[in-house]
Amino acid sequence: MKITYLGHASLAIEIAGKYIIVDPFITGNELAKNIDINSLKADYILVTHAHEDHILDVESIAKRTDAKIVSNFEIINHFENLGIAGHPMNHGGSWQFDFGKLTYTNAIHSSSFPDGSYGGQPGGFLLETEDGNVYIAGDTALTMDMKLISMQTKVDLAVLPIGDNFTMGIEGAAIAAEFLVCNRILGYHYDTFGYIEIDHKKAKEIFKNKGVNLTLLEIGSSLKL
Ligand code: NI
Ligand code: MN
Repeated sequence: MKITYLGHASLAIEIAGKYIIVDPFITGNELAKNIDINSLKADYILVTHAHEDHILDVESIAKRTDAKIVSNFEIINHFENLGIAGHPMNHGGSWQFDFGKLTYTNAIHSSSFPDGSYGGQPGGFLLETEDGNVYIAGDTALTMDMKLISMQTKVDLAVLPIGDNFTMGIEGAAIAAEFLVCNRILGYHYDTFGYIEIDHKKAKEIFKNKGVNLTLLEIGSSLKL
């Protein structure tokens, strides 16, 4: 599995010959100006919730690539009204896709569309694949529900928001790593706007003191699992 950081909470994942984009917010992110969204391959687009900083580029990528959107029921409804096919899920539900098993997990956050309309309840995703298991938390507070994930599966990599203000911050994410029994964390949802700028060195230290490895990728660079 190859995971490429596209900035903010956007990821590109290659697994089992399939291409997955998560929460594409690229054209609205000055820090991601070197990412060409027209070069991104996509068989699926996973959407954690309806906020603009997670859905901005969903429509254009889906229409260009014919990718199927996977998200909560209300977000799928929204995109089906725009003529884009999707797979609706809801919290705690899993489905076996051709890239692996996917579960829509709980998140503590909100989920309105940019026009204020209802975007269902926010979530995250657990991917269980032949290359390992990845938990993508989405925008969320630290929550005891994260313990339920490690009770049910082994988490090899957790992608956690660390920018604070709108989600948990660095200290909260370090506790989340304990709840998830996972010592490999990829941080996301930081530095994009003033409210979520973080001190990278301090973040790495806080995790290191707990024996957890925090990776902060340059936008456009990748890690392998
Ligand atoms: Ni959000
Ligand atoms: Mn967000």
